[in-house]
Amino acid sequence: MASPTLNTPLLFHGTFIHSVSPEQVEIILNGLLVVSHEGKIIFLRANVPAPDVKKLLGFLPGLPNVSDLPIRFLTRGEFLVPGFIDTHNHAPQWTQRGTGRGLQIMDWLNKVTFPHEAKFEDPEYARRTYASCVEGFIKQGVTTASYYGSLHGEATKILADTCLEKGQRALVGKCNMARNAPSFYCDKSNKESIDVTEDFIAHVEKIDPTGQLVQPILTPRFAICCDEELLAGIGNIARKNPSMMIQTHFNETKQEVAVTKELFPQFDNEADLYEHFGLFSQRTIMAHCIYPNEYEIGKIKANDVGVAHCPVSNTTGGEWGAAPIKEYLEMGIKVGLGTDSGGGFSSSILDATRQAFITSLGRELMTDGKDPALTLNECFYLATLGGAKVCCMADKIGTFEVGKEFDALEISTVVEDGQSTVVEDDDSAEVMFEKFLMTGDDRNIVKVFVKGRSIKK
Ligand code: GUN
Ligand code: FE
Repeated sequence: MASPTLNTPLLFHGTFIHSVSPEQVEIILNGLLVVSHEGKIIFLRANVPAPDVKKLLGFLPGLPNVSDLPIRFLTRGEFLVPGFIDTHNHAPQWTQRGTGRGLQIMDWLNKVTFPHEAKFEDPEYARRTYASCVEGFIKQGVTTASYYGSLHGEATKILADTCLEKGQRALVGKCNMARNAPSFYCDKSNKESIDVTEDFIAHVEKIDPTGQLVQPILTPRFAICCDEELLAGIGNIARKNPSMMIQTHFNETKQEVAVTKELFPQFDNEADLYEHFGLFSQRTIMAHCIYPNEYEIGKIKANDVGVAHCPVSNTTGGEWGAAPIKEYLEMGIKVGLGTDSGGGFSSSILDATRQAFITSLGRELMTDGKDPALTLNECFYLATLGGAKVCCMADKIGTFEVGKEFDALEISTVVEDGQSTVVEDDDSAEVMFEKFLMTGDDRNIVKVFVKGRSIKK
């Protein structure tokens, strides 16, 4: 594992951009930011002219000898944003992205996804693929990811090890699925599914005992793949570990909602189903949430469940779905973005940010204007602070604040090999930020920091 502390504190001067609420983005100009050895932000001030920086640092009480350290002066066209948070990501699907477009969910799982995920029985394949996956997401600015593994204990341990080794913050879950899957890719029994989960949790607690970077997350694939006994078993682990996160798929497609209803006729809806098994709480990340009725939306709010909005997969799988994200935000429901990579075709949170905007325009049309489109500021919020809330990490990450950990991206809108919109002499910081959000890619993300550690190769 990499050194838990930095060799020296880090100092940045320049433009820092973050969300302070869903609607409001704050642009800090001439900011000065200091990161401690432990990777925490220990000083942040706006409007410090560059020539005054050294002098100011010399006078700051309580800061350990930082005035002689090198300072990263960000120049015009460069700025910091908080790291991107991917609240819904299937790591094994890294190598199937782009395939199986247009298939309905059950066909897509059976024809494309299950045969693909079965390959992770081979630890060598898992090691190779997860190294590429985690690096690929880091490269695109994902500092925190909530990962589904495959059903395999060994491969999922490798995924957790890989995140820790490469320095990415992650929730990692062994996927529970003991029915409605082919025999070559199905937990052998409910007992085995639970045993492998408990063994996986013990492994993560061993490699990262305080969960500083990597934590286990309970991951029933969805109710279609888990019977009552298995859901109850997973709920039991959740009850015994009240701080453990939970993730699954919720109201994703019409077909999924109908099949769930057939399998669980005793429940009127999915909210009651998951709540009954203790899997619908403030620690739960529910992916998609496209079709919940008003009752279920009320339960999402009352239980403080988090929503992983996956606009790329929602609009490019077997059907086109536009979740009521504006309504969620207005109700104060926690919402973040997910690449759902595999379910979608893109592994980029920037793409998800843009697609959230595009899909919300469709939602506005569908609802005759009742649900207005999201603003770009709101989409950026979903990618950062919103995601931190969904992962129950907003006390640690998601914005630049003294006391938070420094998970950040160094953005350059003036890279030579980039294809983002050219920055002009009279562009304000707002315009450069907008150009980055709408046209940027990994080439504009020149550095990626987690807990102050620079992790992009
Ligand atoms: N529902 C159950 N499994 C999956 C999956 O792998 N991806 C998506 N998008 N939905 C699911
Ligand atoms: Fe998914």
